[in-house]
Amino acid sequence: MKKFLKWVGIVFGVLVGLIVIALVGIYFNSQSRLTRVYEIPEEQVSIPTDAASIENGKHIFQFRGCEACHGENLQGMVYLDDPAVGKVISSNLTTGKGGVGSEMSDEDWVRAIRHGVRPDGTGYLFMPSTEFYYLSDEDLGDVIAYMKSVEPADNELPASEISFVGRIVMTLVKEITFVPAELIPHNAARLAAPEVGTTPEYGAYLAQSCHVCHGLTMSGGVIPGLPADWPPAPNITFGGGSALPTWTEDDFINTMRTGKTPMGKELRAQYMPWNSYKFMSDDELKAVWAYLQSLPKLEYGNR
Ligand code: HEC
Ligand code: HEC
Repeated sequence: MKKFLKWVGIVFGVLVGLIVIALVGIYFNSQSRLTRVYEIPEEQVSIPTDAASIENGKHIFQFRGCEACHGENLQGMVYLDDPAVGKVISSNLTTGKGGVGSEMSDEDWVRAIRHGVRPDGTGYLFMPSTEFYYLSDEDLGDVIAYMKSVEPADNELPASEISFVGRIVMTLVKEITFVPAELIPHNAARLAAPEVGTTPEYGAYLAQSCHVCHGLTMSGGVIPGLPADWPPAPNITFGGGSALPTWTEDDFINTMRTGKTPMGKELRAQYMPWNSYKFMSDDELKAVWAYLQSLPKLEYGNR
């Protein structure tokens, strides 16, 4: 019996030792990714100062979802505090107390939004720059002009933080990272942005963020990397299992503005961010509709 207990003790001790080694490995692996310094080529983006550009910048800030995370006065907020991920705290973007506005050079703004990289070269946590990398120089310049023009708001916030569970997830699951800079092709030649119009090409430019949830092909399905209680994204191609073939263009515009589909279904804004998309103009929504119609008609779930 004694011998048996001794063996149990040894096995237990070895297991605990292995777990400790694994956790230390996970910590150092994630730490080296969190402190990696990115080399970003210098980019010339001119920042306008006229009222029309600033107004357009505000429009982009609203419909691209920046306002939903950074707040109506750009004051920042605790967006999510979940032990499975960490503390997602969006920065105060103004020149008020706790704001980054007075420390950022034009070059810093560009690198932050387009590349997801801090002035010291390390990657921001959670800030979804993968969606904004494709913004044209003109749109990016206008957004920065808007951010620089807003009233200072005082709001001192702690820094974003990744939890240990978050570190385990990003170390063990290849598809998941909380450092968007890891996914951005920083040194690739930039694609030219399409011309503004109600065309499928311009619609694709506007619909960049939809892919995060509806999938690369827009055919929907379970959204990877999100908590298990999230609903799957519906098919928004015109293929099997999609509601869209029965909708008119007006139905689509109305759905994106009100969150209510022609079938009377209420889209929950915490999952489908229509309260940002509602700021799109008629022409912008027409372009997105044209784009969705132009996609290969796929069955549900072929993300
Ligand atoms: C999902 C929420 C979310 C959205 C959407 C979002 N941000 Fe952020 N943003 C964050 C978080 C969180 C941080 C802080 C990251 C950190 O501290 O590591 C951040 C940081 C920033 C910073 C860097 C500020 C600093 O602390 O140095 C800028 C600039 C910025 N965001 C601008 C924008 C703009 C412009 C948009 C829209 C085009 C946008 N953000 C959309 C969450 C978001
Ligand atoms: C953060 C995830 C997310 C993003 C980003 C997103 N969607 Fe959705 N979308 C959803 C989810 C989830 C639903 C189902 C919502 C519900 O059932 O309450 C949905 C529903 C819809 C519907 C209703 C479909 C139906 O069959 O009723 C349409 C249309 C739609 N999305 C279009 C878009 C477009 C266009 C974009 C980009 C401009 C977009 N979505 C971006 C998650 C998202």
